[in-house]
Formats: sequence, C-alpha cells, structure tokens
Amino acid sequence: MPTATPLVICASVHHGNTARVARCIADVLHADVCAPEGVAAASLAEHAIVGFGSGVYYGRMHESLFALLGQLPDSPELTRVAFVFSTSGLPFLAQFWHAPLKRLLARKGFDVVGTFACRGFDTWGPLWLTGGLNRRHPDGQDLERASAFAQHIAAAAGPAGHSRS
Ligand SMILES: Cc1cc2nc3c(=O)[nH]c(=O)nc-3n(C[C@H](O)[C@H](O)[C@H](O)COP(=O)(O)O)c2cc1C
Repeated sequence: MPTATPLVICASVHHGNTARVARCIADVLHADVCAPEGVAAASLAEHAIVGFGSGVYYGRMHESLFALLGQLPDSPELTRVAFVFSTSGLPFLAQFWHAPLKRLLARKGFDVVGTFACRGFDTWGPLWLTGGLNRRHPDGQDLERASAFAQHIAAAAGPAGHSRS
C-alpha cells in the first residue's frame, strides 16, 4: 500500500528547462523532486503517484528514466499511478517522444493517468548559431499550464495525491 508523498523524477541536462516544470508540478502535488540516479527502483512502489519527466534527446526521453524502470520486474497488473512530462524543441510531437517510456511504464505496472509537454529552450547543434529555438521557454504560461496539469493529476490520484496538504 503506497504511503509516501508523491514523487517527481526528472532528468534535465540541457538548460534545466524540464527541472523548472518539475518544480512547478511538485509544488502543487507537495512532492519531492529527484534525479533518476537518486531513486531506488524498489522504493517506487511506496509512492501514491510518481511523475517521470525529462527533455527530449535524439527523439527519446532521457535514458536514465529507462534505466531506472528497467530495474523493476514486469508486472501484469496496473497497480501504480504515474504521469509523464517533457520539454522539447518540438512539443507538438510529444506523443511520439513519450510513447516508448509510456509503453515501458505500462509493462512495469504503472497506470499513466496524464501527460504534459511544453516548449523548452533548445540550442542543440547548429541551433545555437541562430540564438536557439523556443527562447525564454518554459515561460510563465507554460508553467501555469504545468500547474493546472498537476491539479488534474492530484484529482486523478485522489486524496493520496495530496498527502501533505
Ligand atoms: C542532444 C540534444 C538532442 C535533442 N533532441 C531533440 C529531439 O529529438 N526532439 C526535440 O523536439 N527536441 C530535442 N532537443 C531539445 C530539447 O529536448 C529541449 O531543449 C529540452 O527543453 C531540453 O530540456 P532540459 O533543459 O530539461 O534538458 C534536443 C536537445 C539536445 C541538447
């Protein structure tokens, strides 16, 4: 039975874009934010709800999220609640960026109750020559959307999603 506070796991290695979104979501959920390397896979079951977020790198969410989940045994039943979030250069393609992680989460017994994506400042490769894509993102509006998303997640998770409020 999960008892611990919600947990937000975030890998944000380019400009800290996703870390800002993670903080915003965590504030609403009264959750802790951790890097994937700082989480023991076995402890994931203790949390009523777990968020998995990162930037998108070469068409995938950060490898450390896959590595963490890879340590868990496959589970035929969806007994845990999760959500997925990302920032990227091209967030309108988020359903493609999120799909492999969502598939792995389902295999590991997580019911993904929501996904969130927004633009993130991107200076990958030649983009830095032009000053980058999505300058100043995530911006205030993106973070407001992230907060609203977190409220929706809290409602979907029930009272356990707000365990410290
Ligand atoms: C090496 C690298 C590869 C990237 N690949 C993609 C990509 O395939 N698709 C995309 O939309 N954005 C891509 N981006 C942009 C990042 O997803 C975007 O800047 C994101 O907000 C970075 O998040 P972070 O600051 O939390 O690491 C890439 C950025 C880097 C540095």
